[in-house]
Amino acid sequence: ANRYTGLIDRYRDRLPVTDTTPVISLGEGNTPLIRLQNIPAKLGRSVDIYVKYEGLNPTGSFKDRGMTMAVTKAVEAGSKAVICASTGNTSAAAAAYAARAGITAFVLIPDGKIAMGKLAQAMMYGATTLQIRGNFDDGMRLVKEVADHAPVTIVNSINPFRLQGQKTAAFEIIDELGRAPDYHCLPVGNAGNITAHWIGYSESCTAPGGHVTDSCAFCEGACQYAQGMLCQHRPKMIGYQAAGSAPFIRGAMVDHPETVATAIRIGHPQSWDRAWKVMSESGGWFAEVTDLEILAAQRMLTQYEGIFCEPASAASLAGLIKDIQAGKIEEGATVVLTLTGNGLKDPDTAIAQCQGEAEGVEKARMLTIDANLDSVRGAILGFM
Ligand code: F0G
Repeated sequence: ANRYTGLIDRYRDRLPVTDTTPVISLGEGNTPLIRLQNIPAKLGRSVDIYVKYEGLNPTGSFKDRGMTMAVTKAVEAGSKAVICASTGNTSAAAAAYAARAGITAFVLIPDGKIAMGKLAQAMMYGATTLQIRGNFDDGMRLVKEVADHAPVTIVNSINPFRLQGQKTAAFEIIDELGRAPDYHCLPVGNAGNITAHWIGYSESCTAPGGHVTDSCAFCEGACQYAQGMLCQHRPKMIGYQAAGSAPFIRGAMVDHPETVATAIRIGHPQSWDRAWKVMSESGGWFAEVTDLEILAAQRMLTQYEGIFCEPASAASLAGLIKDIQAGKIEEGATVVLTLTGNGLKDPDTAIAQCQGEAEGVEKARMLTIDANLDSVRGAILGFM
């Protein structure tokens, strides 16, 4: 009876479902929280860094947490079709959960600007895939418009059930650490996920009866929610954006977003106001990272820790490194980074940077040799 059956079953007392809700699940959630072993030493600081490896969800990204809720509630309401705009991961998740539910999925993706693995997913899961001559923000606008004229349920993060599902990542982290971290870093596009995490942390520490663990190491059961105050022990939330797609840094919408991290190539974030509220409530901040810093961080995680995330996800480590070096993270702090998507999503970018196409990022050690003993031995000795 201990079989893991997905996050709705695990956290149903904290989610908007009832006993008769028809749960659509692929066993999402319950992802590993991995403590970094080598990178902190390389940074020369005693910061305790954990990564929440969301790339191990069923479709390879954190979107599955939101999608199990969004599709479950769509089916409960009798919907026969879902629709989303996407930079690739939402469309993969929508397509998979719609297939599981036996309903139709329509996905709008920017033509030529999504990673190959994500395109393969949308097609394989059987979504109707509309490649638009425009970017994510154009797609989002069109989805909102068409939903008023067609019987389709929007499953982008403007659907409130999405954030409800995604908040469970914070529950899992608190369950595992026994408390909230001091800082939580995420890559930011639409800012839905950073908002969802904040909801999760806030519910854990402030809602009456909302304590996740019996012995929060910070609160030790004396959390101030009882006095109607916010718990002091929620993390500072840090949102990192790619420099070419950084409306939260510019303080204004960006009309032509660009970045190698196509997942977060977004100029008009849907959760703009909510994310600013997260920052003021948590005492956190937004910062930007360059594409080169993103790729270097992606490579560090693979080479030094054996963890392969997609470029957008690596923005969280890239940003943390800069903030540590700038002295913004104190020694001894506990930090959680969300690695939002699996590295296998974007093989083209991975191979290109390993072939030395990204200036400043090391080439992969790869050569083509003849199929004989001398060549293989020569190659081994040459690389030792
Ligand atoms: N990381 C990855 C891998 C993503 O796919 C996304 C968003 C984000 C981070 C940013 O999350 O939007 O909640 O701030 N991807 C969406 C999509 C836009 O369509 O897959 P956010």
